[in-house]
Amino acid sequence: MTTETAVTGQDLNTKFQALDMPTIYSAEECDRMAGVIAEIEALKKERNAAILAHNYQRPEIYQVADFVGDSLELARRGTELEEDVIVFCGVHFMAESAKILAPSKTVLLPDMRAGCSLADSVDPDELVERRDELRKLYPDLMVVAYVNTTAAVKAVVDVCVTSSNAVKVVEQLDSEHILFVPDEHLANYVQKETSKTVISWDGNCYVHHQITPENILSVKKGIPNLKVLVHPECRSDVLELADAVLSTSGMVRYAKESPADEFLIVTECGLSDKLILEVPEKKFYKACKLCQFMKMITLDATLESLRQMRHEIHLEEGLRADAEKSLRRMFELS
Ligand code: 13P
Ligand code: SF4
Repeated sequence: MTTETAVTGQDLNTKFQALDMPTIYSAEECDRMAGVIAEIEALKKERNAAILAHNYQRPEIYQVADFVGDSLELARRGTELEEDVIVFCGVHFMAESAKILAPSKTVLLPDMRAGCSLADSVDPDELVERRDELRKLYPDLMVVAYVNTTAAVKAVVDVCVTSSNAVKVVEQLDSEHILFVPDEHLANYVQKETSKTVISWDGNCYVHHQITPENILSVKKGIPNLKVLVHPECRSDVLELADAVLSTSGMVRYAKESPADEFLIVTECGLSDKLILEVPEKKFYKACKLCQFMKMITLDATLESLRQMRHEIHLEEGLRADAEKSLRRMFELS
C-alpha cells in the first residue's frame, strides 16, 4: 500500500487493516489500550525498566516510551539510562545494539519476529571473504556497516554508521576505498556525497525500495510549495526528487525548524504519525510503505515482555566486545 494523501485517523485504520493486524482505533479498542498503557507504566516502575522506541513504531507505543528516536539517538540513549532493564520497541538489530553498548543491562525485545530483512542480508563469513578478496585489489579498504546489521556483522567491520551520520563518518576514514554493507541505496548516497570510492553490498530495505518517483510526483503536482523529505534508504531516482535527505529524527527536526508548512514524507509510514503528534500546526503528506517488522511490536506484546521478562537479548562476550568497538568508533567520528 502506498499512501499519498494528508494523514488522517482513517489512514491509520486502513493501514493496520491492510496489515491484517487487530489494532483498529475504535473507541472500545482505545479504552482497552488505555488500560494496557496503565499496566505497562506500573510494571516499568516495578521492574526498574525504561522503554526505548523507534520513530516507526505504532503511535500507541509512543505513549509508553521513555524516549522515541532514530537509530543513532536510540543507541546513545541506551548507554545513558539508569534503569536496569531496557524494553526495546523496535527491531532486533536495534535491541542488539543496546545490549552491545550496555552489557550489564537486561535488554528485552517484545516480539522476536521483529527482525529486519536488510540486516539479515549479510552473512559475516561471506563478508570477511569479500573483504579479503577486495583487499588484494585495494589494500587500504575499510568495511563500513550500517547499524542495520547483526551483532555478528558489526563484530567484523571497521566502523558502523547510521542514516544520520554515514556521510560524516565515511568522509573522515583514513582510507580511499570503502566496502559499505548492506544497503546499496545508502551506499550510493554516501558515494555521491563523499570523495571516497564506495563499493556496495547487494542489499536494500524492502520498504524504501518499493517507493517510486511516480509516488512522489503524483503528490507534488498539485502542491507548489511542498518540501520533499526523503530517507537515504530510498532509491537514487527518488533521492533526486528530495529537498532534503534525512534520517527519521532529522525529518522531525527539519519540519519543526523549516519556514515551510507543507511536507511530503518519503519513508516508512509511521514517521508521519510522529510528525502529526510533534508538529500539529503543519501539514504532512506521505509517499510511504509499511515495515511489517516494526509493526510486529504491539502494546500487548510490550506488556507481556515486562510481565514475563521476555524475550531477552543474549550475546557471546567476545563477539559483543568486538561489535562494541565498531559502534564506539562511530560515536567518536560523529
Ligand atoms: P533511522 O536511523 O533514520 O531512524 O532509520 C532506521 C531504519 O531502520 C530505517 O529503515
Ligand atoms: Fe529493516 Fe527496512 Fe524495516 Fe528499517 S524499514 S527495519 S531497514 S526492513
